[in-house]
Amino acid sequence: MSELIFRTRLMVAADWDEVSRLIYQSLNVWYEKNRGFKLVSGTWETMRIFPRVYESLDPNCCVLVEETNSNRIAGSCFFHPRPRHVSLGILNTHPDFFGHGVASLLLRYVIDFSEQQNKPLRLVSGATNIDSFSLYNKAGFIPTCFYQDMTFSVPANGLAVEIPSGMVIRDAVESDIPAMVRLELELTGIEREQDYRYFLKNNDGIWHVSVLLGISGQLDGFLVSVKDPGSNMLGPGVVRTEEQGIALIRYELNKHCGYSPVWLVPSRCRTLVNAMYSLGAKNCELHISQVRGTEFPQTGIVFPTFMPETG
Ligand SMILES: CC(C)(COP(=O)(O)OP(=O)(O)OC[C@H]1O[C@@H](n2cnc3c(N)ncnc32)[C@H](O)[C@@H]1OP(=O)(O)O)[C@@H](O)C(=O)NCCC(=O)NCCS
Repeated sequence: MSELIFRTRLMVAADWDEVSRLIYQSLNVWYEKNRGFKLVSGTWETMRIFPRVYESLDPNCCVLVEETNSNRIAGSCFFHPRPRHVSLGILNTHPDFFGHGVASLLLRYVIDFSEQQNKPLRLVSGATNIDSFSLYNKAGFIPTCFYQDMTFSVPANGLAVEIPSGMVIRDAVESDIPAMVRLELELTGIEREQDYRYFLKNNDGIWHVSVLLGISGQLDGFLVSVKDPGSNMLGPGVVRTEEQGIALIRYELNKHCGYSPVWLVPSRCRTLVNAMYSLGAKNCELHISQVRGTEFPQTGIVFPTFMPETG
């Protein structure tokens, strides 16, 4: 191969299909080589969910690395500026360019962006992926929480939901948004009102949001989920207690009857983890949340997700 020369530029609409193919190939080739299975079971078109959702949420926030001789896109990384932080994800290198410094170039761009904004940069990375751990670790990220990804085939007739005494769980409505934003800010130190407006508007019909009200009627938790051929997950969400988290997860799983969504559980939440095992859920991956810059003190229970990775 002749010497590879790379340049960075932002994604435009004409790049969407090439970026979707790149994400598909990057994930499947990496997983097949390192773990013996393909991560994405559908076709590459399912990965169009990333440019589609992320350009609606954060226009012009996807950096590409292009190889200058071939004009091929060698890597892509979406980033998400929010009032108090910047979030990074999803980041991929095309398998033809693994090990040539493409991911480091993408990461440098997003680090510079977060430093210019004077905000911490946050992400959730695979704990069994030494390549991605090394990439972020060398760049100065510090692990903040360990998560286990769990999955479960939700019965067609759904699950019983035991709602803690005196509390209420119901579908969210637009007027819940200010309380959702306040709760997340209090428990995790971040704000992302625009995301919650986007989910509840639900123009593409793939989102659901539920809320949990505590004994005085105050909002004590919420959980979002996505059901799309490109992503079937619970999250993002936050909740005050493990008991509330168990109820909220079961309620949200009932929006996925006949499907097998994935959700991330903080491994330090022993009661919550045990309740997931009792349900029959299995571990399918491990992840670590990481931050570069100031870490916010976290007092609640956080359910991160990969669609959208705005936390
Ligand atoms: C993980 C991934 C993005 C890495 O991409 P890449 O372009 O091959 O990575 P780079 O060549 O830029 O190397 C990244 C850095 O990690 C370093 N590195 C790699 N393995 C290392 C190890 N075992 N120990 C220490 N450093 C290591 C490299 O030296 C490089 O650092 P440098 O720029 O300071 O030299 C790529 O394998 C990929 O796309 N995988 C599938 C999708 C994925 O996992 N995405 C990450 C989501 S969390």
